[in-house]
Amino acid sequence: MPVETIRWIGERGGHALLIEQTLLPRESTLLEVRSVGEMVDAIYRLAVRGAPAIGVAAAFGVMIGVQGERDRTGADLLGRVRVVCDELAAARPTAVNLFWALDRMRARAESEAAGGADGEGIVTSLFEEGLAIWNEDRETCRLMGVVGAELIADGATILTHCNAGALATAGRGTALAPIYEATEQGKRVAVYADETRPLLQGARLTAWELMESGIDVTLITDGMAGRVMFEGRIDAVFVGSDRIARNGDVCNKIGTYSVAVLAREHGVPFYVVAPLSTFDRDLTDGSMIPIEERPAEEITCGFGTRTAPEGVGVYNPAFDVTPARLVSGIVTEAGLIREPDREKVEAVLRAAGASLSGS
Ligand code: MRU
Repeated sequence: MPVETIRWIGERGGHALLIEQTLLPRESTLLEVRSVGEMVDAIYRLAVRGAPAIGVAAAFGVMIGVQGERDRTGADLLGRVRVVCDELAAARPTAVNLFWALDRMRARAESEAAGGADGEGIVTSLFEEGLAIWNEDRETCRLMGVVGAELIADGATILTHCNAGALATAGRGTALAPIYEATEQGKRVAVYADETRPLLQGARLTAWELMESGIDVTLITDGMAGRVMFEGRIDAVFVGSDRIARNGDVCNKIGTYSVAVLAREHGVPFYVVAPLSTFDRDLTDGSMIPIEERPAEEITCGFGTRTAPEGVGVYNPAFDVTPARLVSGIVTEAGLIREPDREKVEAVLRAAGASLSGS
């Protein structure tokens, strides 16, 4: 695995250990998280970020929040679980994996309590569930890598946006997993990484992790994506996602939509790589996806340097939505959804055993 972004240390009474991503690539530092408040802060600050990693972090946050509470009654502990889940759910609004993981933890606690478990029993089950979410994510990334690698020809050059690699998951990534897999299969693969304004996940994180793995990566600014496609340098675009609606509309880091439009204009296939936990079964289309807005200072004073006049008006949405019609395919652990639409996405979700709500 390229890097280990998030893990659980110890048994009960343990803690989460994260790569502190805000310091990369200058410093490679680990962050110990021992309270729910610290986990909320780590998620909000993007010390841990990327949709699947945020889900794992949330599950670990619940484990941290209940591990000292096992002497409570079952009903009491269930109340505590709900409070902790609400606190973690407020950390960031867009990546649905956060809510998916919390729903899973809450549902596990509810079913244990309904079966008569006491506090000790519920805590034990929540540890099982949280560690399962962590382990499943690693396997899911591996599977997405295998499915996605089939789309990568020997000698291909891939453009990616933001960071959808190992740093965004507990495994080898979403969009970067097929690149790691294709490379291991002996294919020659090169990557162009958009720097990804304003927080530079492409420059700070994608370039760093690909270089750590010895993969040929070239950094460009976001505005150069059109130029490199025009020059014929790009064979395919691979990006991750934070939330996918039931009609195949894809939400991802701000700037992804522009890349998709450029890819269509230049006849470059645009692939999204995402686990089924990134599909929001409750949303009929992408217009319903909540888009996080972040502080103006990320644009006017990024990384401590003022680059815009004091007092200028700023709009800073952290994500955008790419309509399904611009997506050539969605790579999941269950296979490839080619030219996604409502029918195809719902069929995959049904096969995966998901109940579909909404109209
Ligand atoms: O704000 P971030 O860094 O959490 O945004 C991350 C992204 O947009 C990723 O592309 C997305 O989560 C896919 S992750 C595997």
